[in-house]
Amino acid sequence: MNSPLAESLFPSADSGFWQPDFLLGAATASYQIEGAAHADGRLPSIWDTYSHTPGKVLNGDNGDVACDHYHRWESDFELLSQLGLDGYRLSIAWPRVMDAQGRPNPKGIDFYKRLLDRLQEQGLQRFVTLYHWDLPQYLEDRGGWLNRDTAYRFAEYADLMSRELSGRVTAWSTLNEPWCSAMLGYAEGAHAPGRKNRRYALQAMHHLLLGHGLAVPLLRRNDPGAQVGIVANVGKSSPQTDSPADRRAAELFEVQHNAWVLDPLLKGSYPAAMFELYPGTEPLILEGDMAVIASRLDYLGINYYFRSNVESDGKHGYTEVPLPGVERTQMGWEVYPNGLRDLLIGFRRDYPTLPPIYITENGMASDDKVVDGVVDDAQRISFLKRHFNAVSEAMKAGVDVRGYFVWSLLDNFEWAYGYERRFGLVHVDYATQFRTPKNSAHALAAFTAARKRRNTL
Ligand code: FCB
Repeated sequence: MNSPLAESLFPSADSGFWQPDFLLGAATASYQIEGAAHADGRLPSIWDTYSHTPGKVLNGDNGDVACDHYHRWESDFELLSQLGLDGYRLSIAWPRVMDAQGRPNPKGIDFYKRLLDRLQEQGLQRFVTLYHWDLPQYLEDRGGWLNRDTAYRFAEYADLMSRELSGRVTAWSTLNEPWCSAMLGYAEGAHAPGRKNRRYALQAMHHLLLGHGLAVPLLRRNDPGAQVGIVANVGKSSPQTDSPADRRAAELFEVQHNAWVLDPLLKGSYPAAMFELYPGTEPLILEGDMAVIASRLDYLGINYYFRSNVESDGKHGYTEVPLPGVERTQMGWEVYPNGLRDLLIGFRRDYPTLPPIYITENGMASDDKVVDGVVDDAQRISFLKRHFNAVSEAMKAGVDVRGYFVWSLLDNFEWAYGYERRFGLVHVDYATQFRTPKNSAHALAAFTAARKRRNTL
């Protein structure tokens, strides 16, 4: 390890990140890296349809090839092993493993068996997400998440996968970021399936969470040795001024981004303020649904990226007003590590049943270039170190955080932003599929090596 980087990512000496049982990992998702869109019986997903619709994704990019991880996973896992991490978070592509009649596709399932077996051989903990947004298109054709039946189809899929992969998984996550599926997919139209109706978003959320709740007991029954949880993205807000209206606006932002998902899961009800924000959008809820949704979790996955500054819109909502002069990433997102600390502390205060937490995603995009074989992503190193320390502070304040996954192992297909936004620890040249570990990957490897040395002394 060349010296300028050696200690650049080390968190503070008393940080929980140094503890041997604190899980440090990297994360990816199927549609963003696998490619091989038509291989071995894979069916189209809503993201194939959406990304192939002109004007939906920046530069007309799609996930047909992506990082070609479906064919290159072995060398990608060699790169992963060089990082010295404890865990890896991946997702399963639903349209690879089941056909439109709900029958298993053995070729697709075997792919994930091979991945999980290799990870286990490499000594890595395996966090598996069932739904990272790639809904089979045939289910969208029947109404997608607006159709209550999709929740039951999801439970069947979870049942099949946990029977097939039982014993190979450390922790299951039912859904990744239902907020994004519902809000970006059904209200804003910025993600697949591209619908634009606020009421749809609330109904889609209800069916997503119902699917989650139906899947939980099946996962537990079929794979009793694994943890069962869900992954939520959370947002931090700041009020533009100290006025009561702006402070209320900031609260409502967090209700919409956090409580809308966490309240049903952890309290068994939707927050009333959600319907103050969006009157007349109450979803259709059948008797017993909320109890299903609130089934006990072994852990909660938290994805955190940035803070949003908001002001009152003069009615009952909020408007985002970007703060000038703050540090931002290639996404334009504000770098604000203390937001993660404060949210975690707030969740512990607000949810008596809060389970142990894993930070399942955190990271940043930068316009990374390979120069003489080197990718100098100094901002990412500093970003990660500051977020490690913010999480450590929450742990010192009593929040039970068990692990942290960097988003992402590889540069990949960043949804509506295509390949232009680079989140990886490893740079991908999409023309050649050549991989170059960035300086952040070297710095992370230096930290994991130092941690191992310290913990074996
Ligand atoms: C999250 C997604 C993940 C990735 C990051 C940047 O919302 O879960 O797939 O795109 O954002």
